[in-house]
Amino acid sequence: MSVPASDQPLVLGIESSCDETAAAVVAGMQVLGAAVATQHELHEEYGGVVPEIASRAHLERILPVIRAALAEADVKLEDVDAVAVGHRPGLIGALLVGTSAAKALALGLGVPFLGVDHVHAHLVSGLMRSESSTDAETPSLPALGLVLSGGHTSLYRIETLTRPILLGRTIDDAIGEAFDKVASMLGLGHPGGPAVERLAAEGDAEAFGFPIANLGRHRLDFSYSGLKTSVRYTIHGIPGREDAHPGAAPADVAASFQSAAIAAVRRNLRKAIAAHPDTRALLVGGGVIANRSVRAMLEEECRRAGLALHLPGTAWSQDNGAMIAALGGLRLAEGGSDDLDLAPAATTRDDRVTQQPPAS
Ligand code: KG4
Ligand code: ZN
Repeated sequence: MSVPASDQPLVLGIESSCDETAAAVVAGMQVLGAAVATQHELHEEYGGVVPEIASRAHLERILPVIRAALAEADVKLEDVDAVAVGHRPGLIGALLVGTSAAKALALGLGVPFLGVDHVHAHLVSGLMRSESSTDAETPSLPALGLVLSGGHTSLYRIETLTRPILLGRTIDDAIGEAFDKVASMLGLGHPGGPAVERLAAEGDAEAFGFPIANLGRHRLDFSYSGLKTSVRYTIHGIPGREDAHPGAAPADVAASFQSAAIAAVRRNLRKAIAAHPDTRALLVGGGVIANRSVRAMLEEECRRAGLALHLPGTAWSQDNGAMIAALGGLRLAEGGSDDLDLAPAATTRDDRVTQQPPAS
């Protein structure tokens, strides 16, 4: 095998929480090899992820994906020093496949097993490097963390990368889910985020003043269901009312929706920065980060507040095994590991702080 330049342990990371089966080998924050098998085509005709189909597909694909990641890293299974898996949150049947595979491999190899939180793993995705150089980014802490994905919209305070503290999360739909539902209302395919972004580029973002939920002056939670309903009424009309305006130009609806969805993130980000004036960096992750308007907003807000921005490239913004391995490696470096009876869990378990008023 080609020994990596770094003397960091080799961690195999496995991801199976939703509709990507993924694996990667990392040394520290350096990604040596990665593979992903997406299931988008299996779920497309249903307009969303079907849990039982997802579990079966993970079962069929997990071993080939792990082999592909090891082959790309030019690493033999016996050389792996630890096995990490995203064991929560996600679809329980899907999580079981990855968790069982990771436990079996760790037991067989006699190496530590680590279960990591999938949402927390998204936060380190902007720190990973693919090149053979060892120039992994070390974030300046304390930082804020933001995960924008199909299942999560969460804001964190990060003093230690392995223990982010939740500041706020969506109380209903996730931002990516809102993109997907609006795409479906507009007759676009699944996943809908990229299709909505493409259509929005041709529309007027000020055509409709869609609502941006405000859950309280100091509250950092999100809500996307009101925005989604408002879009539905704009497209189909308000039930029982004659004065609705169905026939709205789809590109204008897409552009106005995208603008409101992003404005909600901008507002909470500004509130979080005001409440935590010692913040030095912003770590972001999740599939919605692929959206160019989202990236531009994040760059603008970080410039404005003087924060270093750690944005993942497109390959690492979607679900992947490398972020799981990277976070597993950080826990391993702290002496952490888990027992083999660690159960997968559908929900996340976050430490949460009471929200503070902004410093004046
Ligand atoms: O992180 P991810 O791959 O899976 C979850 O953990 O949820 O995120 C997938 C989500 C989907 O909702 C998808 O529509 C959204 O990310 N997405 C986008 C874009 N690309 C992917 N949303 C808006 N604009 C995009 N360009
Ligand atoms: Zn994810």
